[in-house]
Amino acid sequence: MIKYKDIGLVNTRGMFAKAVAGGYAVPAYNFNNMEQLQAIIQACVETRSPVILQVSSGARKYANQTLLRYMAEGAVQYSRELGGEIPICLHLDHGDTFELCCDCIETGFSSVMIDGSHLPYEENVALTARVVEYAHRYDVTVEGELGVLAGIEDDVSAEKHVYTQPAEVQDFVGRTGVDSLAISIGTSHGAFKFKPGTNPKIRLDILREIETRIPGFPIVLHGSSSVPQEIVAEINKYGGQLKDAIGIGEDQLREAARSAVCKINIDSDGRLAMTGAIRKVFIEKPAEFDPRKYLGPARDALKELYKHKCIHVLGSAEQA
Ligand code: G3H
Ligand code: 13P
Ligand code: ZN
Repeated sequence: MIKYKDIGLVNTRGMFAKAVAGGYAVPAYNFNNMEQLQAIIQACVETRSPVILQVSSGARKYANQTLLRYMAEGAVQYSRELGGEIPICLHLDHGDTFELCCDCIETGFSSVMIDGSHLPYEENVALTARVVEYAHRYDVTVEGELGVLAGIEDDVSAEKHVYTQPAEVQDFVGRTGVDSLAISIGTSHGAFKFKPGTNPKIRLDILREIETRIPGFPIVLHGSSSVPQEIVAEINKYGGQLKDAIGIGEDQLREAARSAVCKINIDSDGRLAMTGAIRKVFIEKPAEFDPRKYLGPARDALKELYKHKCIHVLGSAEQA
């Protein structure tokens, strides 16, 4: 059993209490490799932001679960070397089984998500409660989910949003004992969230109704990349073919972050930033073949993106 506290990580409880009271959201950035992790830590130390490092099942398969865990442990030391001790949480993103959650809890994760959102309600309650009962023995916090996001999550895809029903949240939170709740209000995973020519809006009215039912309870937004159009343009300028990639407006996320939304998940924007920077090097310097010469600029672009998010979108800067 590896205890997350022994390696300098924190769970989400204190982070979320502060975020709800302070009207900001903690960034949850996914990582699969060293450059992404370096960019996250550099950006969050420089902006003095707390951070949640997210590992998906796909990331575990890609990078190896043991390596990822040691990288997170290294990230704590790295943040100290950079001169800033910031709260760092290691979180399982979209855990789909009890066994996977237990494995993460036993190997140093400080927080897990059990995503039973695709299950019938009672099955979601039972699975989530089972994970909470196990996780809380080790003071690991748990995120549950109600409602289904449109788009693709690992192998599961949904054509349409199934918005979270405000009438269910109190019962779900009460019976499962979860520490935070991911909701579906119109965000979705990936870079193609809306049809071109539409005026995309997330359902802040549903969020408000949920807040009145469970006042002050930590709410999580998945699928919250903004798909910056200047980055999409850069990718396409350097040979990419991303047509009609559209995300969530930053102003809407800022508004959500001022409420009980205290964790905002961002992965796709980071993928886009890295891709734009790498494509630029490949086109402008076709003779380059040292990975550091294209992964370095990708890391710098990623760091700038994350700093922007912490300062201007989530409001988490200076909250460490
Ligand atoms: O919500 C999904 C995250 O963006 C992780 O994506 O499963 O491709 O690692 P992934
Ligand atoms: P994006 O695809 O919008 O970045 O969402 C990421 C996410 O929700 C990870 O769980
Ligand atoms: Zn997600």
